[in-house]
Amino acid sequence: MNGSANVVTISPTLFASFRALRRLVRNPMEAWPEAVYREKLVVTYMFGRKTLFVTDPDMVQQVLVDDPDSFVKAEPMRRALEPALGQAILTAEGARWRMQRRVAAPVFRPGNVAGFVPAMILAARAMREQWAALPDGAKVDVPHEMMAVTFDIILETMLSGRGDIDAASVDRNMRDFLESTSWAVALSALGAPLWTPFPGKRRSERAHRYLRQMVAGRVDERRRTGERRDDLLSLMLDAKDPDTGEGLSDSSIRDNILTFVAAGHETTALALTWTFYLLSRHPDIEQRVLNEIAHVTRGAMVEAEHLPLLAYTRQVVMESMRVYPPVAMVVRQPTREMVIGGVTATPATNVFIPIYAIHHHKLLWEKPELFDPDRFAAESVKERHRWSYLPFSAGPRICIGMGFALIEAVAILGTLLPAVRLEAAPGFIPTPKLRVTMRPKEGMVMAKKARVSGPAAPHMEAFCA
Ligand code: HEM
Repeated sequence: MNGSANVVTISPTLFASFRALRRLVRNPMEAWPEAVYREKLVVTYMFGRKTLFVTDPDMVQQVLVDDPDSFVKAEPMRRALEPALGQAILTAEGARWRMQRRVAAPVFRPGNVAGFVPAMILAARAMREQWAALPDGAKVDVPHEMMAVTFDIILETMLSGRGDIDAASVDRNMRDFLESTSWAVALSALGAPLWTPFPGKRRSERAHRYLRQMVAGRVDERRRTGERRDDLLSLMLDAKDPDTGEGLSDSSIRDNILTFVAAGHETTALALTWTFYLLSRHPDIEQRVLNEIAHVTRGAMVEAEHLPLLAYTRQVVMESMRVYPPVAMVVRQPTREMVIGGVTATPATNVFIPIYAIHHHKLLWEKPELFDPDRFAAESVKERHRWSYLPFSAGPRICIGMGFALIEAVAILGTLLPAVRLEAAPGFIPTPKLRVTMRPKEGMVMAKKARVSGPAAPHMEAFCA
C-alpha cells in the first residue's frame, strides 16, 4: 500500500482473489478497503479495473455536481438494474434521461408533494391501528411493515391506488431481484458477458417478469379506458418531447412507473426501519421526539399542517440516514479522461462514491459512530461541507423524490411513535448489507410495547397545559 496527502493506492492483489469475489457478492461493503473511512481518495484495482473510492467532498462535487456530463452512471449498476427497470429515469443518460426527468418533475414540486400528505397520513394511521391492536410484546417485522405502508403510499400517489396489486408479492419479488444485483456488479467487475449464469439468476428473472407485468396491467388499463387522473401515470401518458413532439412509448412508461414504485418505497421504508432501531437504542432521543410531537400537535394525531413544525423529528430522520444511508453508494464512470484529486480516471475506471463511508469518515465527522440528531440543527449544518452528507446523492441526478421522502418519513414516524414503542432485542447489532439499497442483513424484528396512554401520554401534559 502506498500513498500521500490523503490519496492511497492499494495493491492490485487485494481484489484479485476468489475470496474477494465471494466477499463482493455477499456484501460489497465488506470488500471496501478500510482506508475509505480515513483517506480522501483511495485508488485500487478490482479484478484488473482501476477503481477510485472518492470520499473528499470537493472531489464528490467535481464528479456529481460540477461536471456531470463527464461522469455517467457506471456499467455495473446499469447491468444490475436495467433487466428490471429498462432505460427509465434512474438508468438512462443524456437526452433520454433529460426528457424523462422533465416529464416527472412537476409531480415532485413542493406544492404538488403537499397534496400527497393526506395519503401519507392515512396510510400511517391504518398501520397505527394495526399495531395498536397487537398484544404487548408482539414481534414486529419492521422492514416488512415499513415496506407495506410506503408501498401503499407510492401506489396511491403515483398510480391513484393499489388496485389488485399485492404488496407481499411485490416485496418478495423486489427482494429476489435485488439479491441478484450484487452478482451483476461482480460479474461486470470480472468483464463476464451478460449471459453468464449465476446462482439465483432464474429467480431474479422471474421476479422482474412479475414486477414488469404488475405495472403493465395498470398502464394498459389506463390507455384502454382513456381515464385521466392527477398522478404520475397520467402525466407520463400525456407527455410530449418538446423537441420531437413524440410521446413516451408504453414500454418507457412501464419502465418509469416500475422505477418510481421501486425507488420510491423501499428506500423510505429502510430509512424508517433504521430510525426505529436507533430510537430503541436511544430512549433519551426518542423522548425528545415524543415531546416535540406532543408539543406541536397538543396531544392530538399528526396532521399535514404539523409536519413543517416537527423540526427535531426531521433531524432524527436525517441523522438516521447519515448513520445508515438507505442508498450506501453511487457509482459513476468518466466519459473522457479526467483527473480527480491528482489521479487520472479514464472511461474504463470505476468511480465509487461510497456514501456510507463518507457519512462515517473520520475527517468529516466528529465521533462518526455516535447517533446525534443535533448534527442537523441549522447552525451545525452551516459549518459542514455541503457534500459531506449525501443520502440523496447530489447534482442533476439527485433523487427526484427527496422532498417527498422526507415529508413521508416524518409523517409516518410522527403518527406511529406516540402510539407504539418498538424495542430491539437486547444485544442485537444489525449488520448493514448492500443490495443497491442497504438493509439489515439479519432483518429487523422488534418487540411492540404500548405507550402508557396513546397519543396523550403523560409526558405530553407539560406541553398541552
Ligand atoms: C429515504 C428515501 C430515499 C433515498 C435515501 C433515496 C436515494 C436516492 C439516491 C441516492 C439516488 C441517486 C442514485 C444514483 O445517482 O445512482 C436516487 C435517485 C432517484 N430516486 Fe430516490 N431516494 C429516496 C426516495 C425516493 C422516492 C420517495 C422517490 C419517488 C417517489 C424516489 C425516486 C428516485 C428516482 C426516480 C431517482 C432517479 C433520478 C434521476 O436519475 O434523475 N426516491 N434516490
